[in-house]
Amino acid sequence: MSLPQDIKRIKYLPTAFVIFGATGDLAQNRIFPALFKLYKSGLLPDQFKVISCARTKHTSQEFREIAERSISEKDKEKFPAFYQKIEYLPLDVAQDLNLPALAQKIDSFEKGINTCPQRIFYMAISPAILEDAVGNLAKNNLHVGCKIHNNKPRIIIEKPFGQDLKSAKSLNNQLAQFFSEEQIYRIDHYLGKETIQNIFAFRFANDIFESLWNNKYIDHLQITTAEYVGVEKRGEFYDKTGALRDITQNHLLQLLTLVTMDEPQRFEPKSIEDKKLEVISSIKKLTAHEVATSTVRGQYEGYLREEKINPASQIETYALIKLAISLKRWQGVPFYLRTGKKLTGKVTSIIVQFKPKTHQFFKNFWQKPLPNHITIQIQPNEGIGIRLVSKKPGLTTQLEPVDMEFCYKTSFDVPQPEAYERLLLDVISEDQSLFLSQKIIEESWKVIDPIRQVWSSGNPPLSIYKPGSWGPAQADKLIEADGRQWLAPILTICKI
Ligand code: BG6
Repeated sequence: MSLPQDIKRIKYLPTAFVIFGATGDLAQNRIFPALFKLYKSGLLPDQFKVISCARTKHTSQEFREIAERSISEKDKEKFPAFYQKIEYLPLDVAQDLNLPALAQKIDSFEKGINTCPQRIFYMAISPAILEDAVGNLAKNNLHVGCKIHNNKPRIIIEKPFGQDLKSAKSLNNQLAQFFSEEQIYRIDHYLGKETIQNIFAFRFANDIFESLWNNKYIDHLQITTAEYVGVEKRGEFYDKTGALRDITQNHLLQLLTLVTMDEPQRFEPKSIEDKKLEVISSIKKLTAHEVATSTVRGQYEGYLREEKINPASQIETYALIKLAISLKRWQGVPFYLRTGKKLTGKVTSIIVQFKPKTHQFFKNFWQKPLPNHITIQIQPNEGIGIRLVSKKPGLTTQLEPVDMEFCYKTSFDVPQPEAYERLLLDVISEDQSLFLSQKIIEESWKVIDPIRQVWSSGNPPLSIYKPGSWGPAQADKLIEADGRQWLAPILTICKI
């Protein structure tokens, strides 16, 4: 949804919103709260039905109470009219049990409102059953949509999109048999975050930065997603996935793409997609030797004692990879992408470090020139900081770094929508700008697969790190060997 006038249009879009996996964590923690907030902000269509499906037997009334409990933990206000929009239908989409009843429910909604609603299928189910589930939707003709208005259903898929290039292609092929690319919405929820969308505005609406955004001025980039939490209750999934596939393949590569892509010609999905593809397909694929020398994989101490983890697991909970982009603009600029669980705190940030200037003029006032850098802090304490050099007040000339800061909280006195609110609204209003295409996903697996392959042969060895630290010591060694160091990824700003 790019323009304010789209909001008006949404009110008049009758919608049957079907959630498969409605009793699961994703639905309860993210989807229902997001729908509820949209409703509260008056942004859901007037004729909107949520058909919630899962295997467990519940009546609609029982399920409404479950949904209400999960929402009211986060939001104390109650809006009974919202819960009346929710219906429940026990079925098994992977085993093709009771799907005709879903078709009937949609039909009866259609009859009740006397028009053809748009159909949205949210596949909030395990990736392992996704292909079967898609096949069963088609078997029951649910992929067809309305006969009268040629209103084709949309399908929402969550990451991970496959486990590697091969399985991602197979999933895409399965989807493509029944849904066209315009009907498929692949969610990477980072793209729905307000601060990530601001990267476009920051880069392309401020000419002062764009002219410096190249290898002449930029020394390197550090992109970090650090989490304080461990694997929590997701051991079974995580132990098969690891940090590289859970975060680097999607969230971190997306951040890298947004911060390095050229300006699209127009603010529309196709233009944006072309520029993204240009950069993501230009990421150099690491050789086995580079994987051994330019990556670090770590595991936090105590991981092997977590629930549902193989006690001899070699899976990484920390991943650092150093990448290069072969486009002229980025030649010679390294990109350090790191992520880990049980680190010292929760933060996602991008730091752009500029090349140090060897000013003749100031040569007697500093031992080593102080480089400028820009920090785009995505979460928490959202903001942007620019590190400048200043004369310290006093009778002598001393130079010191100072921070110039912009904080969302103080600059805009409006609440920030959650990523899922924005993304669901975009699906309802048929805007794919913030979703991933098949091509982008395939390109990102091409970067990740060679690393994964070498890692699975035990190279480089897994480094154990202490919970609450910044990860393995090898990560410091890797960047220090390049004559660089990690910059604090947390801005001191915006804490108020
Ligand atoms: C998910 C990962 O995609 O992102 C999780 O599967 C991770 O492991 C989560 O915890 C982090 O998301 P956020 O929005 O809290 O940064």
